[in-house]
Amino acid sequence: MKTTHKKDNTIILAKDELFSKSLLWKLQKEAYDQYGMQAWIEKGVPFYLTSNPHTAREYVNMTLAYLQDCLRIDSRTHIDTSAPIYIFDLGAGSGRFAFLFLKQLMAALDLLALHTLKICYVITDFVQSNLDFCAAHPQMQPFIQKGILDFALYDHSQTDQPIELILHNVKLKEPLKNPAILIANYFFDTIPQDLFKVVDGKLLAGKITLSVPKEAVSESHTEIDPAWINHLSASYDYTPYNPKDFYRNSNIDTVLNEYCQKFEGVPFLFPTGSCQTIEYFRKLTNNRFLLLASDQGVCTEEQVREWGEPHIALHGSFSIAVSYHALKSYFDNAGGIGLLTKQPDPLFVVLTAVIGGKKTDYPHLLLAFKNEFESFEPSDYWKIVSAVQTETPNPTLQHLLALLKLGNWDPVNFNAFFDAIRSQIPHSSPAMQRQLCDAIENVWENFYPVSPEEGGFIMNLGVLYFDMRHFEKALTYFERAESLSGKNPALTQNIAVCKQLIPSSSL
Ligand SMILES: C[S@@+](CC[C@H](N)C(=O)[O-])C[C@H]1O[C@@H](n2cnc3c(N)ncnc32)[C@H](O)[C@@H]1O
Repeated sequence: MKTTHKKDNTIILAKDELFSKSLLWKLQKEAYDQYGMQAWIEKGVPFYLTSNPHTAREYVNMTLAYLQDCLRIDSRTHIDTSAPIYIFDLGAGSGRFAFLFLKQLMAALDLLALHTLKICYVITDFVQSNLDFCAAHPQMQPFIQKGILDFALYDHSQTDQPIELILHNVKLKEPLKNPAILIANYFFDTIPQDLFKVVDGKLLAGKITLSVPKEAVSESHTEIDPAWINHLSASYDYTPYNPKDFYRNSNIDTVLNEYCQKFEGVPFLFPTGSCQTIEYFRKLTNNRFLLLASDQGVCTEEQVREWGEPHIALHGSFSIAVSYHALKSYFDNAGGIGLLTKQPDPLFVVLTAVIGGKKTDYPHLLLAFKNEFESFEPSDYWKIVSAVQTETPNPTLQHLLALLKLGNWDPVNFNAFFDAIRSQIPHSSPAMQRQLCDAIENVWENFYPVSPEEGGFIMNLGVLYFDMRHFEKALTYFERAESLSGKNPALTQNIAVCKQLIPSSSL
């Protein structure tokens, strides 16, 4: 790896590279490859907003609505019920979303008597160890055994190869018999984008220079090192746009031309990698799919104008906000549908997009969009939970249980309020305590640990049962905690106390 030393004790790792071809993306791949599951356990890659039961329920309801539209007799995207309906989770990471989604989807299909649909949920990732983690996870086994869940080692930035399903041992051929569903959670903010600026109505291409403090680079290091990511600083420059340097097609060109008219003097990112991925699935599905995508991102013209040069969020790997404004325009220009909420918060944006038909072909989907994302988006839920945490010192058990119900029994949320819940037990009526027991069982059903450390959550469930004098239940949870995290003195003691208190005939 060639580097340049600057006088101010920084090292230039890469100079004036086109944004989408820069060293950034090699570092990204290297980071995810090297860290595997540690990306979420230790390095702090965000995943709460995408991977909680509330978000999963909204995605399930959108998916059901889309399927119902496709199942209509006059549908242009009709479903062949003898063939698989693929749901592709692009860059699925820990698999927590996949678990929560599948659990709710399969229950809903049963209720709707649609259980004969051949659902095949495909977890894709370019990191083998992430797939291995998901495939070995105890919560995934029922889906694997039923043939509903499969895995594909796939790099969505290099779409010249077919997707190969590991468990079914098939290479997917174009075109698939059925429309597909694509899920892209915190994925488009991870893959390459292009930087542009409009000056005098003409497009300029953005270049990035990356540097790190000298101490961050070890003398002996000859290869690129993802540990640099957390020390990166970036500067930008612009050069005349040469179309040959970019991934292009007529839909992308149309959006860029529109931007030249609208955004004079404004630097903006363009989600080239996302468009490339979408183009691949257009071919694979013969232009029939639903996309549900979420990221930090900008949606309105005003937000694009205020955005400025890229801010690179560093968390072991990195992420960069995505222009959902450009993605929606891409879908509109491609004859598809792009739906964004009316008051999008750049913190977390959800796009619903369809290729294959007009709005009138998707009444169930439009209604579901209104009732789900438009009326209460994932970021709204997050804001309410955060506000209760910071602004309500002593919430009652009744209020906490209502909040948990709103979140569709979210284990992370439950654990965040553990102390508050526990403090309420001595003042709660037997009826309230019964509701708490139900809540414990509901959050337990949604629990998908990614680290042995999460045994602490299970132990807390046992403590609540213990405080309510349900010693057998408490023991069950203490033993479950031990089987995830291993023995520790507190658990050993709790288990011993429970065993003393439970009549020996019940043990
Ligand atoms: C930010 S994480 C998101 C994980 C998950 N979707 C979530 O919401 O928590 C990005 C994931 O995409 C994977 N990834 C990044 N670039 C990829 C690519 N080009 N092809 C396939 N997977 C990729 C990474 O390994 C990682 O698991």
